[in-house]
Amino acid sequence: MFKRNIKIFIIFSLLVISITLFLAKFNQRDISVLKENNILDLFQNQKYYLDKNKNLYLSYYSTHPDLALNKIIAIINVKAYNQPYSLNNKVDLTKGNLILVNKYNFLENYEPNNLVTLDQKFAYENRKALPEVNEAFISMYQDALKDNINLLVISAYRSYDYQAKLYANYVTTYGTEYTDKVSAQPGYSEHQTGLALDILTPNVTMTEFQNTKAYLWLKDNSYKYGFILRYPKNKEDLTGFIFEPWHYRYVTPPIATQIYQEKITFDEYYAYYLEK
Ligand code: DAL
Ligand code: ZN
Repeated sequence: MFKRNIKIFIIFSLLVISITLFLAKFNQRDISVLKENNILDLFQNQKYYLDKNKNLYLSYYSTHPDLALNKIIAIINVKAYNQPYSLNNKVDLTKGNLILVNKYNFLENYEPNNLVTLDQKFAYENRKALPEVNEAFISMYQDALKDNINLLVISAYRSYDYQAKLYANYVTTYGTEYTDKVSAQPGYSEHQTGLALDILTPNVTMTEFQNTKAYLWLKDNSYKYGFILRYPKNKEDLTGFIFEPWHYRYVTPPIATQIYQEKITFDEYYAYYLEK
């Protein structure tokens, strides 16, 4: 009798232990699913959330739990979680003035066929750009002059070969790591489209430019003429380049205004509004 009771007791105990373990396991899985759903909810409430990137957001979050969710969304949307120059995507030339050229979108040896030469009144010798960029710049230049600001284009269209030389010279002087933060590799520069201008004011260096009233004027007025500051401060993780106060990209006035108001980079704009 006593033996039988012990047997029943042992069987009962094992049963209780098994049920408890099973419930605990089930509960654990439940909590992690719940947690993931909550995080997904948080992602979905962010402005630039794209459903197609859902799994990438969650997986990036799991390895970068301290990053702000909107930063994770931006990094994933612009594909900056990939190694620079690793994707081999060709630039979608059908986007016209809104083409995206960056470390993930390659122009190959594309050459615009309607470049015009900029007036030496406001540009270094033989600088070329697309006609709409020239016209927009003239209008911006004239309005800036009314505010006693003198704008000067020091670089505009650059061919694939010219960019290759420029990049190689940088590498010789500064080494590859630094060069990749300041100069695009050939085939990956916006300057090759005829849509980008490097703008200074006379008698200042590129480093000094950010402290001039010309820069402050451009920063808050250039969008009215269709230009955006393409490589803003604190966006290096998205654009791949350090702050370039002199580099402006033409994207047409309505788009430049939207980008200015939303305080996003062109890479983010493109991913959210043009690619989705
Ligand atoms: N400095 C810019 C990023 C270029 O090389 O196109
Ligand atoms: Zn530039």
